[in-house]
Amino acid sequence: MQAKSNQWNNNLAFLLAATGSAVGLGNIWGFPYKAGENGGGLFVLLYLFFVIVLGLPVFMAEVFIGKTGKGNPVSAIENLAVKSKSSKSWNLVGYAGILASLIIAGYYAVIAGLVVNYGFIAAAGFGVSDPSTVYAAEVANFWEMTFWFSAFLIASGIVVGYGIDQGIEKAMRILLPMLFVLVILMVGYGAVRGDMASALNYLFSWKADQFNAGTIQAAVGQAFFSLSIGMGTLMAFGSYMPKDQKLGNASVVVVTADTAVALFAGLAIFPLVFFFALDPTAGTELVFKTMTTAFSEMGPLGQFIGPLFYFLLAVAAFSSMISILEPSVVFLSEKFSISRVKATTFVVLFCFLLSLVSVAGFNVWKDISIGALDNPFEAMKYLADDFLLLLVGTGISVFVGWRLENTINSEVTGITNKGLLNLWVVVLKWISPISLLTIWALGNLQILFGISFF
Ligand code: PHE
Repeated sequence: MQAKSNQWNNNLAFLLAATGSAVGLGNIWGFPYKAGENGGGLFVLLYLFFVIVLGLPVFMAEVFIGKTGKGNPVSAIENLAVKSKSSKSWNLVGYAGILASLIIAGYYAVIAGLVVNYGFIAAAGFGVSDPSTVYAAEVANFWEMTFWFSAFLIASGIVVGYGIDQGIEKAMRILLPMLFVLVILMVGYGAVRGDMASALNYLFSWKADQFNAGTIQAAVGQAFFSLSIGMGTLMAFGSYMPKDQKLGNASVVVVTADTAVALFAGLAIFPLVFFFALDPTAGTELVFKTMTTAFSEMGPLGQFIGPLFYFLLAVAAFSSMISILEPSVVFLSEKFSISRVKATTFVVLFCFLLSLVSVAGFNVWKDISIGALDNPFEAMKYLADDFLLLLVGTGISVFVGWRLENTINSEVTGITNKGLLNLWVVVLKWISPISLLTIWALGNLQILFGISFF
């Protein structure tokens, strides 16, 4: 990812790499199952609302830190803190982001490994096996899961270790449109073969009774996760951004593409959920079960489309995975003056250990709950997505809004409209920190301690 000159040589590179990072398991695996777990309608509407009101502004702020601070997430913040005569402790925001990225890497690789595994199963044909039985058998096997996630993690590590320069750009140029088209085809299949009316009603109807702090926190967490906010990825990518690239426009493009893929994934999956009377609240297994059902239904066509779907999903996960590893790798190699390969080896080894814990959450430690969280896998996911991301997002907003206000201008951001620029600053200064902290506090009280106020 790190171009030799520490800068991408054209504007498309940032767009492709950032979209490659944003579009991943979060959209196709995460969004539908979280929507299902949270009852659909209200979660989806809140998600869209937060993407626009908090996601886009904080996304831009994170890229802004990278673009103007240069360097890894910690040093970019330190550089800007020095320039703006702020405390060096702002670098804690960078450290917290890196911590979140490591935890995410630890569970992301596991799901991605499962996707690759499903690609092979789909190629061999699902036959008449019941999708639930297939899934249960796959996740019950600790060693098999370990094999697949290790393969995925090592492959991502190799690419990150050697620096992929323009590789990601070339790959994304072809694969992103393919993924897009395939997801739209799956929506078409859902419309023709599934129950689209129930899906639309489920996903977009306002359900006031679901209004609680946990749903709101899950919606913001999902919005940030899906946009790759709060883990230093966008700071790293922002620092490779050419000087004259319009940060505002680029952010709108990436945020729109990411949200479109999530919505299409929902529209592909839920018509099948309702048609085959599957359980929308099934959780992490939802996508695997629904898609397996659909592919087996399609007969010979499914034997072709099934593996293609998992292949493209694995590629989308791969480009996200390398973007998750990038911040900690640049940080370690710059901080301790070690080579990228060495830094990547440390990071990958650490993630390997974390992934073992999250794999165990599916089988051997399945029943070990941590507080209110069902198992170690769920606990890691909660800690990263819902706990840390919102805090880092708050830190980014406050730092850019309050400490860097003087450095914000049309030239760096590409936003020429003064009103819009001011609105951005107001959101960063007030709206985003106040709402993020409130949602964070109330959500944690409800999920972790069972205390709810409404
Ligand atoms: N946004 C990615 C996804 O939706 C995951 C990701 C998170 C990537 C954080 C980079 C940083 O799958």
